[in-house]
Amino acid sequence: MTRQTFDDRYRIGQKLVAELGPADTANTTFELLGKEWDLVPGAYAPAPGTGTEYYTTAIPYPVGGRFLEVGCGAGVTAVWAAQQGCAHVTATDITETAVQSTVLNVKRHGVEDRVRVLRSDVFADLDPAEKFDTVFWNCSVIEAPQDFEFTQDFEWAIFDRGYTALSRYLAEAHDRLLPGGRALVTFNSLGDLDRVMRLALEAGVTLTRLSSSTRRLAGEDVTYNVFEITR
Ligand SMILES: C[S@@+](CC[C@H](N)C(=O)[O-])C[C@H]1O[C@@H](n2cnc3c(N)ncnc32)[C@H](O)[C@@H]1O
Repeated sequence: MTRQTFDDRYRIGQKLVAELGPADTANTTFELLGKEWDLVPGAYAPAPGTGTEYYTTAIPYPVGGRFLEVGCGAGVTAVWAAQQGCAHVTATDITETAVQSTVLNVKRHGVEDRVRVLRSDVFADLDPAEKFDTVFWNCSVIEAPQDFEFTQDFEWAIFDRGYTALSRYLAEAHDRLLPGGRALVTFNSLGDLDRVMRLALEAGVTLTRLSSSTRRLAGEDVTYNVFEITR
């Protein structure tokens, strides 16, 4: 197989934006994992075949404990975490349409008593004293140039400028953990895993694969991986 370049991956990211991007301008709904979900216009809707479907059922949840989801998108995993028995879930995203969609889904699925939704750029807008049993991010895997300009909220679910957000997550996730806590991150084969492994080392952590699954998305075979971040 020919090794993919930055440009090859960036082109696939643009194709994903075109194929998976939101067409609707009114509040809408989608189905995933046998449930119906709300979506505010402009937000990313995880289609069947995207990582959300796999990761949401594959990751280990801290039953009875505190779960932080960075980049919650429409809130599928955050709601699922509460339904799996997490006592407290904090769901954050950098985009307002994702935050609003998650608020709607927390209400729709009746988990308002244990899910809090906030806008945050990775950990930057969270109280530094807050700690969790599990910290998780289904991150955006296509590296965009440093001068890339986001023109729609949905693009934040695909692109990360120079993997700077992911680098911050890798470096800071352990500072957010309670004793014995676990830091998790996903990554799929559309992104540059070799580079992310190097970024992890620069951040002083290593990534250990916990599980993976290959599925078909937008004409591509995509392998989805769950990694544990250890320091
Ligand atoms: C691959 S999507 C996953 C969305 C959702 N968790 C899911 O599984 O459907 C990545 C998410 O991370 C969010 N995101 C991107 N950069 C971020 C940042 N710097 N801080 C917080 N969230 C970010 C995006 O808006 C998007 O919702």
